[in-house]
Order: sequence, then structure tokens, then C-alpha cells
Amino acid sequence: MHIGILTGGGDCPGLNAVIRAVTLALINEAQARVTGIEQGFLGLLTGRSRPLDAHAVEGLLAQGGTVLGTHNRCDPFHFFGAQGADCSAQAMDCVRRLGLDALVAIGGDGTMAIAHRFEALGLPVVGVPKTIDNDLFHTDRSFGFDSAVAVVADALDRLETTARSHGRVMIAETMGRYAGWIALEGGIAGGADVILLPELPVDVDAVAAHCRAREIDPGYTLICIGEGARLQDGELTVRERIADSPDPLRLGGVGHALERALSQQLDSEVRTTLLGHVQRGGSPTPFDRVLATRFGYHAAELVRQQRFGRMVTLQGDTVGSVAIAEVAGRNRCVPTDHPLLRTVRGIGVMLG
Ligand code: F6P
Repeated sequence: MHIGILTGGGDCPGLNAVIRAVTLALINEAQARVTGIEQGFLGLLTGRSRPLDAHAVEGLLAQGGTVLGTHNRCDPFHFFGAQGADCSAQAMDCVRRLGLDALVAIGGDGTMAIAHRFEALGLPVVGVPKTIDNDLFHTDRSFGFDSAVAVVADALDRLETTARSHGRVMIAETMGRYAGWIALEGGIAGGADVILLPELPVDVDAVAAHCRAREIDPGYTLICIGEGARLQDGELTVRERIADSPDPLRLGGVGHALERALSQQLDSEVRTTLLGHVQRGGSPTPFDRVLATRFGYHAAELVRQQRFGRMVTLQGDTVGSVAIAEVAGRNRCVPTDHPLLRTVRGIGVMLG
């Protein structure tokens, strides 16, 4: 067997750990040959690839990013480099030239949607869910999420120092796109007093009243807001629109919009920190290293058993799989009846 591996979409802590586990398990247990496709699906158009063996994946477990490189705009069925033309036949030629029997695609909803289309063209595929946003359907956790939450918690711990010392309202804006998982769990772990999610309506006046009450005691407020949260006008805060991209809206800036709105109503100074790509950077947490290793091993098992068209999942503590067709292009937001929401409300954290 000759198996290709690629990483698609944004980089994420744990990608290298998956590459390592898939490669080692395929070599050890399936005597397979493994090739890394570089820069995501773009590598299937340019033919850029490299052999992977035990030596090539040595030391990858704790390394952030992806040694294969990635691309978050390349969809061969709608190729940005050819005015949106369908270049999938060219990609399939590359698959034949390389002599690949199957592909392991590590990525988010967009990558799964593309992988699913290649499956229909006759390329056997196994998917591995990656995203710091934790918003993929049918998996309770994607690797990378725990690492992002750790960054948010650390940032809030540090912002609390200034909030307390200066009697300020400090806002931390997290990533997460249209799902509030990072803001919710990062906010809880970092002790935020107000957590604002894309899934819940945000009442700026109520947030201001909450901060005003806290101006007297304890004198400061820590707010954690997800980038996809909508303020009173119900609009998303969009930093940039990108033409010919599967993900055309670049979110960001809602924290600063909230800062402007709160400043008009409060005596305290309000300051915002946009956490941005630091949430995606650096070494994966031990939890993500273990999860990435479990996912990689399971992906290799699916290949060995020739169970293609499936994406690895974590449900409860069990690693399993679902049909990629069931997850492709679908997102999983925080349900408004999620038990964590009751928990945080119950300890007096304001939610919106
Ligand atoms: O999906 C992961 C993610 O980090 C989102 O949380 C964020 O909105 C987006 O990617 C940013 O993407 P880019 O690196 O292309 O700006």
C-alpha cells in the first residue's frame, strides 16, 4: 500500500503529532509506504511531495504547525489559481503519477468537504478532524482545541493582573469563527466574569450594567468574547472579505467594538487584547499530543482495514469514526442548553 497524507486549512497544534502517528502506525502495522503531500490540496496540483518514514517523523510529537505545510484557500474543484475552474482531474492525475492507493486528509470542515468529493472520483480517503475551533460535527473534541483553550486561559490570567491593578475592564477576544467553544472553555478556565458567545444574543447595556456594578467591588471586570459574537445590531464584525475563498469572511474586531460601546457607559478604562494566531501557535498540550496520537493511529487502522470514506471521531472517551459525508461542510456550535452554560451562570458569570 502507498498512502498519501496531507494537512489542509489553518495550521493547528497537534498536526505534526498526527502525521507522526499515522506514518509510524502505517509502517509498523501495515508495512505501507507513506508520502507527505505538501501545502494541503495544492500539493496535488503542483505535485510537491516528500517520502515519510520513521526518521522523517522523528521529534514531531511536540512541534507546532505542520511540517508538510498547508493551504486554506486551495480547493481543486474550484481552484483560485485558475479563476475558480475545476482542476480535480489534474489532481487525480497527480495521485496516479505518485501511485497513491489512498489519502489521509487531516483538516477541518472545508478539508472534509473536499476529501469527500475526491472519494467520489475514486480516491479512497480517511479524514482526521483538526481545528482549534472544536466545531466539527460528530466529534466531541478535535485536537488543537485544548491547546487554544490553554492559551486563552493563560492570557486571561495575565490580563487579570492589569485589570485588578488598574481597576479596568479588560476584554480578550478569542478565535473560534461562528462557534463559541474556545471563548466558553477558555473563559471558564481563565476566570472571566463575562463570557460572550456567537450562539447567544449580546446585550451591551446589560454587560455595561454588570461592569458598573463591579466597579465598586471588586473594582474590575474580565471579559472573554468569541470573534463571531454579534453586538446589539446583530451584525458580525468582519475584518476582511476574501474573494475566491471557501471561507470568505475573516472575522475579528468585535472586542474593540465592544470596548467602544462600553467606554461610553463606564467610568473605568476599557482595554482589548485580540489574541489572534497565538491561539493556534506553539507546541500542543499533553492532552492534544495524546489525542492526536490516538487519532493518527485510528486513521491508520481504518486504512489497514480498508474502511474508507470515514472521519475519525472522539465521542465521550471513545475514538471511532463516522462517514465523511455526514460531517463534510457542517459545523457544531455550542448548544444553548449545554450543561456548561448552566454551570457558569450558576457561579455568577454573565453570559451573552
Ligand atoms: O478555523 C480556525 C481559525 O483559526 C478560526 O478560529 C479563525 O477565524 C480563522 O481560522 C483564521 O484564519 P486565517 O489564519 O486564515 O486568518
